[in-house]
Amino acid sequence: MSTQLRSILKHAKHSFWDEPRYIKNTKIDFEGRDEFQKNVLEAVNEKGYYLASEYFDKETTQIMLDAAKKHSGKTAQDDKLHLSFPDYGVERYLAADRRNELSPFFCEYFDEIGASYLGGHGTRYQSMFEVKGTIGKRSSADIPHFDDWRKRFKIFLYLNDVGKENCPFVIYENSYSRDPARKHKELEYVLSGKNGSYGHLCSNEELKLLENPRVTKISVEAKAGSVIFVDTRFIHRGTASIKGDNRLLLGSYFDLR
Ligand SMILES: [Fe+2]
Repeated sequence: MSTQLRSILKHAKHSFWDEPRYIKNTKIDFEGRDEFQKNVLEAVNEKGYYLASEYFDKETTQIMLDAAKKHSGKTAQDDKLHLSFPDYGVERYLAADRRNELSPFFCEYFDEIGASYLGGHGTRYQSMFEVKGTIGKRSSADIPHFDDWRKRFKIFLYLNDVGKENCPFVIYENSYSRDPARKHKELEYVLSGKNGSYGHLCSNEELKLLENPRVTKISVEAKAGSVIFVDTRFIHRGTASIKGDNRLLLGSYFDLR
């Protein structure tokens, strides 16, 4: 089969089968959710994120920070659980939900939000402690991008105060749309994968996006204990550390599995 024909078939399958089925299966299910959970679900769906400032008090956050550090110490030599990206200034320690002290964050209440956002079927597939902050180190995640054409629901907990100099998460509010430019990017993602831009925006595309008066770039600077709920179909990016100060966070990721 020629490459061109394969692309046409892939395009047709995505547009007429995969995408419509996915949209139907992942329609938000509000059933049984309380007021806070509904607010999160609505905000994330509408503008891409919800920030719960200082959701956890100082004491609880400190306990989780101490536990996360112990977790990193214990898993540092484990190739499967410690993902080191020194070129990007990022260290990740997986399976953080194994530690009981982190259960306030890796909890059923947040899992319900993740499940509901994905039509009641979402499950947590990753729980990690991440340390980011080597001075001047950047990765492709620091370029504006979407993670996938599918919903990728993520919850982050800042374990330390995060300001503009220590790697705030950046989200482009209201940046998910079904306009032709976005559809084109998603199609490229499906057809070319990592051989294409893979959801990343070049400077001109970012400027074009920000020409839309509804789209606002938000640098999520917040105190320790703050929780951010995100749909990473919306354009977002990381930030490099300006002076080498770290950002410490827990991440909980949801998908259909
Ligand atoms: Fe991302």
